[in-house]
Amino acid sequence: MPDLLESTAHPDPIEQFRLWWDESLALGEERRQCISLATIDDAGAPVSRIVLLKQFDARGFVFFTNYGSRKARELDRDPRAALSIHWYEQLHQVRIEGRAERTSREESEAYFATRPRGSQIGAWASEQSKVIPSRELLERQVAEIEAKFAGSEVPCPKFWGGYRVVPQRIEFWQGQENRLHDRLRYTRVGQAWWIDRLAP
Ligand SMILES: Cc1cc2nc3c(=O)[nH]c(=O)nc-3n(C[C@H](O)[C@H](O)[C@H](O)COP(=O)(O)O)c2cc1C
Repeated sequence: MPDLLESTAHPDPIEQFRLWWDESLALGEERRQCISLATIDDAGAPVSRIVLLKQFDARGFVFFTNYGSRKARELDRDPRAALSIHWYEQLHQVRIEGRAERTSREESEAYFATRPRGSQIGAWASEQSKVIPSRELLERQVAEIEAKFAGSEVPCPKFWGGYRVVPQRIEFWQGQENRLHDRLRYTRVGQAWWIDRLAP
């Protein structure tokens, strides 16, 4: 694997992320959007789950979810979040730490409109993270929502949308032989990024 060097890494971590992201696409990495999201519960304990990384740019890293879900409640109370993503083919890991903020209504609606109809119905039907008595209840709710929106477009629920994790630190990990991996950590300093190398 090519070394990840201070001299050749992109000075902007978002652009470095884009390089690796595009590479993972070119290498046919399946599931390349799967990213682990860690939040903090109300007792201060860490909680993590996988979500799909749907967008990223200079503003941050975006995933979509139910605003009533556990993760959403946790982020609304304490926006500190950590993301980690792994691309097997490239031996790459990226770790992102920052604060999550809700995407605008327009952004959430624009993304919702691109989802398959089944997923749109599912978003309405599932009160994500709630305890439910049975699978049958879920299926009944799907049938009800399908009937409600039969013959029309499915609008984006008010309780559904995105979060953008605004990064404060981003670490790029390049797997190397003999465990001599490269680790470059970018820390935001005002408008710029400071780069440190970490021992593997
Ligand atoms: C591959 C994969 C992708 C997932 N993508 C999402 C996603 O983009 N948004 C989401 O809300 N949940 C997604 N989930 C489900 C979450 O892992 C989780 O079960 C759900 O969001 C409820 O989490 P919470 O109770 O902590 O809020 C995904 C699960 C897997 C395995």
